[in-house]
Amino acid sequence: MSNWTPSSWREKPILQQPVYPDAEHLKRVEAELKHYPPLVFAGEARNLKKQLGEVTNGRAFLLQGGDCAESFSEFHADNIRDTFKVLLQMSVVMTFASGLPVVKVGRMGGQFAKPRSSDNETVGDVTLPSYRGDIINAIDFSEQARVPNPERMIHAYNQSTATLNLLRAFASGGLADLHEVHKWNLSFAKQSAMSEKYDELAEQIDSSLRFMEACGVTSKTYRTLRETDFYTSHEALLLNYEEAFTRLDSTTGDWYDVSSHMLWIGDRTRQLDGAHVEFLSGVKNPIAIKAGPSMDPDDLVRLADRLNPANEAGRLNIIVRMGADKVEEGMPKLIRAIEREGHKVVWSCDPMHGNIMKSGNGYKTRKVDDILREMKQFFHVHGAEGTFAGGVHLEMTGKNVTECLGGSFRITEDDLQGRYHTHCDPRLNSDQSLELAFMIADTLKAARKN
Ligand code: PEP
Ligand code: CO
Repeated sequence: MSNWTPSSWREKPILQQPVYPDAEHLKRVEAELKHYPPLVFAGEARNLKKQLGEVTNGRAFLLQGGDCAESFSEFHADNIRDTFKVLLQMSVVMTFASGLPVVKVGRMGGQFAKPRSSDNETVGDVTLPSYRGDIINAIDFSEQARVPNPERMIHAYNQSTATLNLLRAFASGGLADLHEVHKWNLSFAKQSAMSEKYDELAEQIDSSLRFMEACGVTSKTYRTLRETDFYTSHEALLLNYEEAFTRLDSTTGDWYDVSSHMLWIGDRTRQLDGAHVEFLSGVKNPIAIKAGPSMDPDDLVRLADRLNPANEAGRLNIIVRMGADKVEEGMPKLIRAIEREGHKVVWSCDPMHGNIMKSGNGYKTRKVDDILREMKQFFHVHGAEGTFAGGVHLEMTGKNVTECLGGSFRITEDDLQGRYHTHCDPRLNSDQSLELAFMIADTLKAARKN
């Protein structure tokens, strides 16, 4: 640890990286990025860490969600607005049910680099390097498109800047007004096939808001009713980019990765002696680590020792992504190992990445039922272990895409081709995301009663 520098990861074995054909070009771009203004302020990352500390202690809930991969072609104000809106809608439902504040973190404003299961992709008799996310190469299946180009980091930075700018405006400019958000939820509940189930909760929120208003608690009088805190996050995969945004915070003398508030290490790059763990061990942001079915409990403890040696609440979030059939067997041993060592962590559930399947007509998809099932198991296991199920991590969008199967709007395999727009994994659409929020709300309410 004492030998850590923003570039010490370069001495470690590293997986899932592009091979840039022109090393000098890469160096020029890295040097340029080092001069660019930070996307976030270290103080904001500290605020998020404080709020995640509340999650660690069971006094708040974490909602993290957004695209699997942001893309240059889907960059549009409407997409940013719609995802932001759904996240707020979900958070209102969850806050009401749990009685706990919901910490909102987007997979937005930097979620561009993707780990891939294979280095190459073959179509017919042509094999090309895999698409690794718009920050690295392009998705089109041509030799030219798949060449990693460092200029894409500059493009990704500019897009992240504009995204974050709009998110900040939404968060404080009136779009996050609790009354507005609730109105959208009411109209969702009315249209839904499950309106009976949702109406009741929506009506309860409605009467609470009216009661508050009668007591003089309105958005005019209370800033917290018309504004919200909204944070960004992405997988810290492309370390050339992350290093360029790792800056010394003048107020504390600590290093922060100012490309995002929170960063995570993926399930494929979490090797204890690897470059990604080395890199994130030295920055003070709140960080997360994905834990899939192959995570060994002792390794998880070693990772926690390494990434959070001071055992600071809010520093480390373990995102469990086992798959619906594996949580019940795989998660208790992780929880027990962490509990045994007294590590303070946020446990959150990614019910997406362990439930990927291929549809009969060839689409990479997920069943809403599997996603719901994994979530339920996650809550159930934490209930049984006496630990706090602290959050969810979702791939979702505010758009009405058809990428995941099922839900009460019954997306079928035949529907997938209609609006299948993702650049990587299939996302929940806005209705499916809200349904999930209502389901989580039920669980949180039951937990509160107990
Ligand atoms: C992701 O979050 O998009 C991802 C690749 O997840 P994991 O590392 O859990 O596979
Ligand atoms: Co994904």
